Amino acid sequence: MAVLTLENGDIYTQLEDIEPFLAKLKVQLNHWPLDQARADLLSQESLEPQEKEELLKSIDFYFEQLTRDLGYQSRDLIVLHPSLSGLSVLLEKFARCHTHADDEVRYIIDGEGVFGFVFPDGSQGELTVQAGEYINVPKFTEHWFHLSDSNKVKAVRYFTNTEGWSPIYTNTVIRFPQLISK
Ligand SMILES: [Fe+2]
Repeated sequence: MAVLTLENGDIYTQLEDIEPFLAKLKVQLNHWPLDQARADLLSQESLEPQEKEELLKSIDFYFEQLTRDLGYQSRDLIVLHPSLSGLSVLLEKFARCHTHADDEVRYIIDGEGVFGFVFPDGSQGELTVQAGEYINVPKFTEHWFHLSDSNKVKAVRYFTNTEGWSPIYTNTVIRFPQLISK
């Protein structure tokens, strides 16, 4: 389950303790079971395009619900792992504080990802989102992203359109150590 670390050193592991902090930013965090996901593909470090599509199809009932309820139009699968060439360059883009013109919607299905946030009072926190968790970071919410020590993640990205995805850098100084793959 998710873990929230605040810059004062406080650590929260229970959803009921984490949610009040996320509510300040209207960040949504849900548990989405993975029992129907293709376990054989989840366990592979890297995936061919066709395998990615097969894995996505096994969990597309979530996407169909997002389409029905909120008008989402597309999804893809990001697979990051230590042997991926250019990993550190790819991650650098999102390791700085930024916003987007659209919601950042992710379903972590393997590994974990760390989302950093700037709270309304200026304090900062990092939320480690683990396999089986869905997160929606609203548009124009300051955040950053990096991998955890495990250095791998499989994340489904859901989009309402193809625009609004580029990072808009805010130049806020991040007061957490960055764990970027070298
Ligand atoms: Fe982002």
